[in-house]
Amino acid sequence: MSPILKVVVGGSRKGGAVKRGSLVMVAVLALVVGAVVGVVGARLGGETATGGGLADLAEARGLDGQQAEAALKTFVPPGEYDEYYMFASGGHSGQVLVIGVPSMRLLKEIPVFTPDSWQGYGYGTDQGNTVLAGGSDQDKDATELTWGDAHHPALSETEGDYDGRWLYINDRANGRIGMVDLADFKTKEIVDIPNISTSHGGVFVTPNTEYAHISSMTPMPFTENGYADLSEYNEKYRGVSSWMAIDQATGRFDLENSFQIELPPYTQDLADAGKLTSFGWGFINSYNTERAVGGDAEGGEPIETGAIAADYDFLHIINWQKAAEVVAAGDYVERNGMKMITLQTAIDEGLLYLAPEPRNPHGVDVNPTGDYIVVSGKLDPNVTVFDFEKIQTAIQNQDFQGTDDYGVPILNFDSVVAGQVEVGVGPLHTQFDGDGNAYTSMFVDSAIAKWTLGTKAGVSEADAFKLVETIPVHYNIGHLVTAEGDTVAPDGKYMVALNKWSIDRFPSVGTLHPQNFQLIDLDSSPLQILYDSPIGVGEPHYVQMIKTDKLTSRLDVYPVGTDPATMTTSEFATAPGEERVERNGSVVDVYMTALRSHFTPDILRVKEGDTVNLHITNVETAADATHGFAVPQHNIEASIDPGEVVNISFKAVKSGSFAFYCSEFCSALHLEMQGWLLVEPK
Ligand code: CUA
Repeated sequence: MSPILKVVVGGSRKGGAVKRGSLVMVAVLALVVGAVVGVVGARLGGETATGGGLADLAEARGLDGQQAEAALKTFVPPGEYDEYYMFASGGHSGQVLVIGVPSMRLLKEIPVFTPDSWQGYGYGTDQGNTVLAGGSDQDKDATELTWGDAHHPALSETEGDYDGRWLYINDRANGRIGMVDLADFKTKEIVDIPNISTSHGGVFVTPNTEYAHISSMTPMPFTENGYADLSEYNEKYRGVSSWMAIDQATGRFDLENSFQIELPPYTQDLADAGKLTSFGWGFINSYNTERAVGGDAEGGEPIETGAIAADYDFLHIINWQKAAEVVAAGDYVERNGMKMITLQTAIDEGLLYLAPEPRNPHGVDVNPTGDYIVVSGKLDPNVTVFDFEKIQTAIQNQDFQGTDDYGVPILNFDSVVAGQVEVGVGPLHTQFDGDGNAYTSMFVDSAIAKWTLGTKAGVSEADAFKLVETIPVHYNIGHLVTAEGDTVAPDGKYMVALNKWSIDRFPSVGTLHPQNFQLIDLDSSPLQILYDSPIGVGEPHYVQMIKTDKLTSRLDVYPVGTDPATMTTSEFATAPGEERVERNGSVVDVYMTALRSHFTPDILRVKEGDTVNLHITNVETAADATHGFAVPQHNIEASIDPGEVVNISFKAVKSGSFAFYCSEFCSALHLEMQGWLLVEPK
């Protein structure tokens, strides 16, 4: 921390509670800034660019001491970089947002499940269209999906720490998972997970990205035609835990080595991977273990009533390492192309155990040392902390309180719990810093509770499992994130609250309000909100925060001739001077280059009914020298990044003269970067 900030932080504690406009505030602020200017006056030059001192400037803007301090903590000077990337799911926008921290500036939107015209994703290029199409059910009668509900991003890890290689994200609506390569921030693959219809929070990677896990949310019938009446819910519907093996060279899904575990028909929800002490295990929450199916218009009760009847639901405890051995030994069935361990095998082999967890839990989060598994019951004011060592002892001693209706052993609650902390109303998700503290979001209270873990997280016996403080947020928080908070080595430093409602926090933009990401300083005591950041794109659900310098594979330009789908040289790469048109019957292949400020060739002559395959190489080597390619009336729009080869195939069904153009403002003669597609009538 710079001397300037140290002085401001130290001095402003007193000013924290001072309200805007009061004389006391001005006096305190003058003291604070006076101290700053006094200590490092030479560096600040004594006066601001506008003439007065910093205190005058703050006063003129109506900022109290704490607000002026927040401005200094979040400001990233023009041309300088943020310390962290935050990868946020874009909710039903289907995309991923990349946001800088602490500035909270939106850096990019990465299209995953939904087409994006700026990046030419889903607008005629083979690359985007193929990725999007791969995520739809391959059944010929299936509906093509052009949106997703992007929910839980999971950054790839090595030894439990983010390694900056890949990002996985699930589609809550359709039970799919996508993979983004962080070398070029592009989606490379979407897989429609067999035997899963919807998936909420069951996404995580194991500590070396051996697997990306995705579980079902709503159970579905395992029947030939995918149908079973709800009267057969208990017998025919099942949940699924999927362990998608990851190709360690490419980050893509390796279906051959992936497997699933059949689960009881509970609503499996949030999940997390064990790490360090608990490596090899995974944990999934569930609710609606009552198996309510609704029917409020048929004389029954709504699901929300039936699903909260019991005092406990079940934490699922899964030994994935042993499950992989069971699959390797051939003890599985094949279901829709996936290897599946049946529920009976999972029970017989000791792969699956349950632990009671207080009412209708949402978050389950494993602490950095892997010793504690934190669960929040939405209808319980406590967070419940399970102890992994106690879980193992209970399993070994068969310390069971019984089995569920499907024969899965239920561990004795009192034998496996390390502690409970009363935090407030509506606890949901928990994140961690590196100092043994946990932070739990509370939806109903619109607040975050800071509390301490136990001795295995380095907390003294006397301080263990205690509420430290609570900070209000604005409003209705869902998830939260701390810097690298899902790893074995969280940074602390920053926390972001993902608030669902923003009501009065921003100027009105109509009846649909933006979300509000609130940046919180974890080094302040009491905790301090630094910044409100409106997110007017989709409904971000969860985020992960990674140090920018960890993305070491990041490319600024592609080597010329690269196909982003394979990250190798494209067979269609075209060098300047080699541009050509090849006609084979009614199929026309065009090998084109793009270079400021022309396409070569710039006149394309085809005949009505021809199939046209455009192969366009951007031969630029300068970073940011991107060209676009837009064809009127054809719904074709490509982004051709420097070095990239883009393939576009279409049938020239309509005769006419079409003036294609570069859609990216690339140069002074950008408007001149155009050409003709001449489709001669039959
Ligand atoms: Cu190339 Cu505009």
